[in-house]
Amino acid sequence: MSDENQVELEARLEEQEVFEPSEEFVAQANVSDPDIYEEFEENWPQSWERAAEMIDWDESYDEVLDDSNPPFYKWFTGGKLNASYNCVDRHVENGDKNRVAIKWEGEHGETRTYTYQDLYREVNEFAAALRAQGVEEDDVVTLYMPMVPELPIAMLACARIGAPHSVVFAGFSAEALATRMNSADSRCLVTCDGYYRRGDALDHLDKANEGLDGVDHGVDSVVVVDRLGEDGFDHELRGNQHDWDDLMAEHAGERVEPVERDAEDMLFLMYTSGTTGQPKGVKHTTGGYLSYATWTSHAVLDIEKEDTYWCSADIGWITGHSYIVYGPLALGTTTVMYEGTPDFPNRDRLWDIIEKYAVDIFYTAPTAIRAFMKWGSRFPEQHDLSSLRLLGTVGEPINPRAWKWYYKHIGNEECPVVDTWWQTETGGMMVTTLPGVCDMKPGSAGPPLPGIDAQIVDTSGTEVDAGRAGYLTVNKPWPGMLRTLYKNDERFVQEYWQEYSDVNSDDSDDWVYFPEDGAKVDDDGYITVLGRVDDVINVSGHRLGTMEIESAIVGVEGVAEAAVVGANHELKGEAVYAYVITEDGAEGGEELRGRIIEGVEDAIGPIARPEEVVFTPELPKTRSGKIMRRLLEDVANGEELGNTSTLRNPEIVDTIARQVEQQRN
Ligand code: WT7
Repeated sequence: MSDENQVELEARLEEQEVFEPSEEFVAQANVSDPDIYEEFEENWPQSWERAAEMIDWDESYDEVLDDSNPPFYKWFTGGKLNASYNCVDRHVENGDKNRVAIKWEGEHGETRTYTYQDLYREVNEFAAALRAQGVEEDDVVTLYMPMVPELPIAMLACARIGAPHSVVFAGFSAEALATRMNSADSRCLVTCDGYYRRGDALDHLDKANEGLDGVDHGVDSVVVVDRLGEDGFDHELRGNQHDWDDLMAEHAGERVEPVERDAEDMLFLMYTSGTTGQPKGVKHTTGGYLSYATWTSHAVLDIEKEDTYWCSADIGWITGHSYIVYGPLALGTTTVMYEGTPDFPNRDRLWDIIEKYAVDIFYTAPTAIRAFMKWGSRFPEQHDLSSLRLLGTVGEPINPRAWKWYYKHIGNEECPVVDTWWQTETGGMMVTTLPGVCDMKPGSAGPPLPGIDAQIVDTSGTEVDAGRAGYLTVNKPWPGMLRTLYKNDERFVQEYWQEYSDVNSDDSDDWVYFPEDGAKVDDDGYITVLGRVDDVINVSGHRLGTMEIESAIVGVEGVAEAAVVGANHELKGEAVYAYVITEDGAEGGEELRGRIIEGVEDAIGPIARPEEVVFTPELPKTRSGKIMRRLLEDVANGEELGNTSTLRNPEIVDTIARQVEQQRN
């Protein structure tokens, strides 16, 4: 961390305010006893049974934690269970069949309501359909779908038959879909004809088909949901493509016994960006993940089955997996799903939905809150938000100003705000306040959750003093952790453990998980997460690898070399800035800039679209030829340039800075 950042940080913490949860909230909270931290610590890892007890097991486990082969930890070994049974059947059996499981709202305002009985029927029918399509236990099924109810139904149907799902965010490109299907050797795809965005029908099947053309192995079966009806694009279904409704009609009324899965069997794969061009297939298991998602939904989100709960993330990301689908449904609550954007038809859409469904708990991202703030408080003021009891945020650091705005204008200073730090890899929340126990400090996520052992260390692994910036590490395993990277144990060790562990030791105490985030801790043990310390950019709470974007750019004809960095952006948190050298050294023009942007959108998706493309004759490089990204970040941020003395070509930095300035004027 640079000195300026350190100074800014200290200033920020000095004026830190503390907010207490209301007595009323604490009185009803699922967890309100502060002793929970100590209880977890004294009885670790047995204390994690508390999480396992939140779900039903067909066969109970022998051991809570098997740490004999770190970092390949196993949780609840010997246990058998089914995630679909836990999210659906048990509520039907327990007398909650008529309780609403999913409230879905389309962008045009149409709604669909699924009770647990409805969900039970559809999950069974689709599970039968998948079986009939030849999907067997342990086959990876790819789900490339927008926010339609068929997505959680397909996830639960996969879980029911023990076929791991790999959900690919619908905003990702055809190429990104193909890469993920190839990597997972996935032979079955469930997709959708299209969806609505700001009033327009978008063609999704066209993209899916293009992706399928890029799959190297045979694809046995494709199921297509008809979302658009008459607004559809008249695609002819190909030979191996089936209409969702036809399959459901064919299997109407069928029941599929939930398959007994081992606690350590894979529940799903989720691809996420890393520092190389290849996305990482994060593997999550059935017993540990489900217990963890359910426990954190109970303890942090304070979900009760009587609640109406809404997480506005997309199910294409881990947030949606853990906190729209698995956690909330395992608890038997009502989970809201919204198809569209927050500003359609008006900027009060989310508040309109909260009022309409009397939402109790709302979980969203700082990037959204910054947009709401910019639009102004008159939009939430048009609505009765008094049903809200708790607010949450996730995805990136939230600045105290945005936190306070959220607390005041959405929560009416009555709802605690939980700022939850976690990652795709952690499966669930790791660092955040327990809303019924802890005070809140805007800008700081809070202490590690009970049972989570996190520390801030320096490069040598020594704990740093309170107030100093360092690196966030996790010193003990936890049930929701990723088990490995799909078919790549070596990269798993290298990416997450190598940095701070004694990799030759088989003593679990010598192994430390490194999430690649910078952080600091205060005297009360509250952790403030500062952001990634690797070449990963966090755009609107979504993780993008600079290498992935660079390789897309150098794939564009006329480009010789490219460097991509993340720099500050008012709404997105960070945005993508690209520095490009043309092939003939010629000045790049608008035409090339257009093709570069298109190239990035084709390779990854519109979320990776560069904010700025700057043409330059050279990139700042060290004597050993490494690109100095830090300087490019300074340039993009319009900040004073850092030290250039180690550069082979120091003069180029000023040239680039001038270019940027010209371009911005
Ligand atoms: C990265 C993980 C967890 C689901 C969404 C993102 C950043 C996440 C916070 C927070 C500060 C945060 C970290 C982390 N991050 N939550 N509350 N405060 N930073 O999942 O794509 O796996 O990204 O998001 O940098 O490493 P992801």
